[in-house]
Amino acid sequence: MDVSTEGSKIKALVLAGGTGSRLRPITYTSAKQLVPIANKPILFYGLESIANSGVTEVGVIVGDTRAEVMEALGDGSRFGLKITYIPQDKPLGLAHCVVIAQDFLGDDDFVMYLGDNFILSGIDDFVQAFRDRTDGTCAQILLARVPDPQRFGVAELDEFGRVLRLVEKPPVPPSDLALVGVYLFDKSIHDAVRSIYPSARNELEITDAIDYLITQGRRVESRIVEGYWKDLGEPEALLEGNRLALEMIAPMISGTVDSSSRIEGRVVIELGAQVRSSLVRGPAIIGAGAVIEESFVGPYTAIGQGCVITRSEVENSIILNESRVSDIVRMEGSIIGKRAVVGQRRSLPSASRLVIGDNSTVEFHRG
Ligand code: TTP
Repeated sequence: MDVSTEGSKIKALVLAGGTGSRLRPITYTSAKQLVPIANKPILFYGLESIANSGVTEVGVIVGDTRAEVMEALGDGSRFGLKITYIPQDKPLGLAHCVVIAQDFLGDDDFVMYLGDNFILSGIDDFVQAFRDRTDGTCAQILLARVPDPQRFGVAELDEFGRVLRLVEKPPVPPSDLALVGVYLFDKSIHDAVRSIYPSARNELEITDAIDYLITQGRRVESRIVEGYWKDLGEPEALLEGNRLALEMIAPMISGTVDSSSRIEGRVVIELGAQVRSSLVRGPAIIGAGAVIEESFVGPYTAIGQGCVITRSEVENSIILNESRVSDIVRMEGSIIGKRAVVGQRRSLPSASRLVIGDNSTVEFHRG
């Protein structure tokens, strides 16, 4: 059994490929990992926590949206990281990502981070515990208690927190401990990902690779996330992540607010944004160059750059860059893509007129 490689370098493998089907239509034109919460791409929070944990070398798996991801992250220097991009032709599974990253990873320990995960407490303790190990642990998984474990990969543990077994979306879960999208591995994972077969959904599953390690008698440890964690791959989760991220923003008014407007609570108004004859009640963020006029922007709302909100009430929503909302009373729990137009028409016939992309959701309130 390998004994600890204490003090050795830990790299990161960040997964930013995939399909993002549950967040369509937003993900038809945007990488899921770059959808913003509190006006910052989800992935940036992950990269910042990787940098905070002392890791500097990061491999980023990119798929069809690689151009957008590469443009947003660059060489990683803005995060204090050195990024190597690893293209994945098809999303063939989380363990497949490890297979194609082998040249980058070499024999080093690494933290694997799913790019759509949001972990409020960061990952420092988790990475540090793996660095400090002296007991031959070859993998460490992160778990969170969830009310609906049937929807997740679930772990069965012994009384010391050692992992006995992992099961993917079990109808009868052995525990309420769901796998969080952050894992730590040593080099033995490379053998494991090469020893497993594709699952029924034709993916190489990381749960199978970890199970392989356990059946080989290797030691797999677990830690439980204290605080908030979510995979932001679905609309409701995205809104929830946005709420949490907005609660952490440092209030700052860099744009202009006219004398007939009011700002209440935790609010960021970015450079060049204008608030006129409006009430903005935080937590909320108004993106650079946006215009808010005769409107109410309510708690838990993120308005992207260059948006124009006129004579409307918007609450608990995410509005992406350069969209326009006018005469809407009121919008709640909504996600509006980039350059969208939502408004009322005054001309006849008195009917709604819609041009809506595939897989969109529109729900009018029946008064
Ligand atoms: P998932 O959320 O499991 O998959 P997905 O992105 O395809 O989403 P959906 O189910 O809505 O279609 O993936 C978790 C993370 O890992 C996400 O950031 C995408 C990334 N990923 C890859 O980079 N390559 C892969 O082969 C897979 C399966 C996921």
